[in-house]
Amino acid sequence: MKDVYILAIESSCDETSISIIKNGCEDISTTILTQIDTHKNYGGVVPEIASRMHSENITMVLEDVFSKTDLTIDDIDAIAVTYAPGLLGSLLVGIEFAKTLSLVYKKPLIKVHHIAGHIYANNLVDKMEFPLLALVVSGGHTELVVMEDDYKFKVLGQTLDDAIGEVYDKVAKVMDLPYPGGPQIDKLAVEGKPTYDLPKPMNNDELDFSYSGLKSAVINLVHNEKQRGNEIRKADLAASFQNIAVDELIRKTKLALEQTNSKRLIIAGGVSANKYLREEFAKLAEKENVKLSIPPIKYCTDNAAMIGCAAYPLYLKKDFSDYTFNAASTLDLF
Ligand code: KG4
Ligand code: ZN
Repeated sequence: MKDVYILAIESSCDETSISIIKNGCEDISTTILTQIDTHKNYGGVVPEIASRMHSENITMVLEDVFSKTDLTIDDIDAIAVTYAPGLLGSLLVGIEFAKTLSLVYKKPLIKVHHIAGHIYANNLVDKMEFPLLALVVSGGHTELVVMEDDYKFKVLGQTLDDAIGEVYDKVAKVMDLPYPGGPQIDKLAVEGKPTYDLPKPMNNDELDFSYSGLKSAVINLVHNEKQRGNEIRKADLAASFQNIAVDELIRKTKLALEQTNSKRLIIAGGVSANKYLREEFAKLAEKENVKLSIPPIKYCTDNAAMIGCAAYPLYLKKDFSDYTFNAASTLDLF
């Protein structure tokens, strides 16, 4: 079969990214332009600034992607783009760009769900084999999902309140750490010891998650210590929080592996860049004799390579989109 090259576009939050992906699993060229340095000044992503920066930069990002290869637009078989979920204004920049390229160069258009992207990033490591268990941990998602086949998802458990990435960011914020908080907590925790006494989520056998109790406990602890004029031992607090947050992921994933008899586990989403999480899941996989896949760190957080991977099964099914689809800020994949 002829090789398939997909040009993929991701602009759902504060990264403008474009990739060329071969056969759904090989990253030929990727550029990721992050806006973190700008949004840092505001303590979080400012949607209007994000969409303006996407429009200013997206053409340059496209030029950059092609400049790193011998390919031209003629070699591209389809254009893929993230259409949900995310910031509406940011998504729309990518979508309009993708529609224009598709129309001008007469290439089929494929719309991709952002979370499918995070999951399919695992194809960049090793082609996913089904059935498998997926743990999705991002800024908006904490989910345990069984995949029976391409795009066949069955949710076993999800967060009842806050997503784990969101909690990392809020805990970091109350500790006066810069945006985005997850990587800051990750770094600090390495230097600390889990000496703060924080509540563990409820010890039940359900596969749903709840992180709001842990989040509130950290916020209250910091406020109380501040009121008393006490210094926070930030590294210790980061380690205390992170141990509980990640150990809960491990506990529930172990339960899900037992319940499903699954021998394959993949992890997806920004929080899977976390060092402690990666170490603990490697231990779990060894103990449970499970094949584990976590994307390399650069493919854990937002990037267009994962969108190209997730578009490939849709390309094979000729699941193409016309120009009428729109962005959606929230949309369930499962
Ligand atoms: O998947 P992602 O890039 O965007 C969404 O789709 O939400 O995930 C972003 C989330 C943020 O909450 C960020 O703080 C968190 O992933 N994150 C991390 C790390 N890197 C990113 N959390 C913990 N440790 C990290 N190293
Ligand atoms: Zn993401």
